Amino acid sequence: MMEPVFHFELDCDVPVPDGTEELLLRCARCCMRAEGVTLACGAYLRFTDDENIHQLNREYRQVDRATDVLSFPSAPFTPRQTAGLAPQLLHREWDSDLRVCMLGDIVISMDHVRSQAAEYGHSVTRELAYLTVHALFHLMGYDHMNDKDKEQMRAMEEKALNAAGISRVSDDELIAKAKEAMQFSYSPYSKYKVGACLLAADGRLFTGCNIENASYGATNCAERTALFKAVSEGAREFVAIAIAAEKSLPWPCGICRQALNEFAPTLRVIVACGDERDEMNLQELLPHSFGPSTGTGDYLGKD
Ligand code: THU
Repeated sequence: MMEPVFHFELDCDVPVPDGTEELLLRCARCCMRAEGVTLACGAYLRFTDDENIHQLNREYRQVDRATDVLSFPSAPFTPRQTAGLAPQLLHREWDSDLRVCMLGDIVISMDHVRSQAAEYGHSVTRELAYLTVHALFHLMGYDHMNDKDKEQMRAMEEKALNAAGISRVSDDELIAKAKEAMQFSYSPYSKYKVGACLLAADGRLFTGCNIENASYGATNCAERTALFKAVSEGAREFVAIAIAAEKSLPWPCGICRQALNEFAPTLRVIVACGDERDEMNLQELLPHSFGPSTGTGDYLGKD
């Protein structure tokens, strides 16, 4: 799978937390992937304070107050005309020096980032990621003027944030749910109880446990139980899986790695046993994988 290319031209009037650019680049690539944009894209991103954003808001939008984020698209979108649907519009914005299509300008007030993070009870990281993703979808033609548009924009934001690992569901919650599911394990032969909790890109959670059989080969692992439950209920895109066991860290078996790779080749895989935990990406656990696009070259798991 080709990783989307994204580039930020940063301008910082105020200090930003370490790792901000990497975090926001990861989010931006997830926005591009969610929208299906394959063209290399970029945006100007300025971090400022309430005083400056107040001035800009007054000057460009005639709104006389500070705000959290402002976005100024380069492409002349009409409402709900997204980048995925308007490649010609994007091509016109191509910057031949930077070799990217600049989507526009984003301005974020770090004063608002900090106060909103405290107000909503989440991290500065999540607030920064949310505001950037929100602004990027604005730059791709999304809006929230009516309920339908708002719902569509929220769904895209959620998808991108989940894919970037900035989901509302924390790793602790995923692990707790995997441990709960482990209690249902049917494992009279191995006595090795396993539970899993799979996070879908739309935010849904699917749990599973290992289910053994007197004919040992008929056994199903916890990960595949969760995966098959999810796919059978319409989920096809996944962000992370937590797997818990009582006796050791339960890195997924080869069959489960292959089964998960079918739908989520870049899945975050978190394993837990008691207080111990570890994480790897499925790409690392199954290098040079054989997936839906390998053999026939065109089937991507989407009808
Ligand atoms: N098991 C899982 O549930 N997940 C894995 O990835 C590894 C193995 C289960 C299958 C069987 O019920 C037990 O652990 C011992 O192999």
